[in-house]
Amino acid sequence: MNPRNVACALLFLGCASTATPAPSVRDEHPPVSGDAAITEAWFAEARHHAWECDAQAHESIIPGHKNVRTCSNDVARNSRGSVMTVGAANVIEQTRLGGIAPWRYDFSVKIAAGEGRATWFFGSVVEGKLAQASRGDVPPGYNCAACHESTVPTAIARDYVFRTIP
Ligand code: HEC
Repeated sequence: MNPRNVACALLFLGCASTATPAPSVRDEHPPVSGDAAITEAWFAEARHHAWECDAQAHESIIPGHKNVRTCSNDVARNSRGSVMTVGAANVIEQTRLGGIAPWRYDFSVKIAAGEGRATWFFGSVVEGKLAQASRGDVPPGYNCAACHESTVPTAIARDYVFRTIP
């Protein structure tokens, strides 16, 4: 192969790899399969720390969680309008007062287009173990959805999400 053909082959490989890019970690969401091992592994890596997050833990702006730090993926951050785009995800971490490592993660993922509890998936990982994971229209996610339903549309609160990190 002459040098020019080698260059073309390399170029082609380059094009082929950009044609199927790996999904950006900033667009990723926690697993919604309900599989404990996979979900726990995702949080053990704290993959949401590649998202946009609160600079540090703080008291919840509205009662519901305590000493919290929220992270939002780019799908949530780029969602426009009253309903979020499918794939939008948020994680809220809780640390004990004075503690540094989160002991609890709660997450919400938009899994279907449109409005309503069934379009959201809610889950919790407590002390490294999957504690609950379900759609928002069935227990136990129903309890999360019931409170998150009280979000009123504002610049940061809409569609079952109280606060998206801008
Ligand atoms: C009593 C009401 C209430 C319940 C029940 C509740 N939450 Fe929340 N949640 C809140 C409030 C209020 C915030 C905003 C906290 C802040 O930003 O200071 C929040 C924030 C969050 C966030 C960050 C994104 C957002 O909406 O602001 C996630 C993710 C979350 N909750 C998941 C859950 C999950 C999962 C459950 C069920 C296991 C749950 N929540 C139960 C009130 C509640």
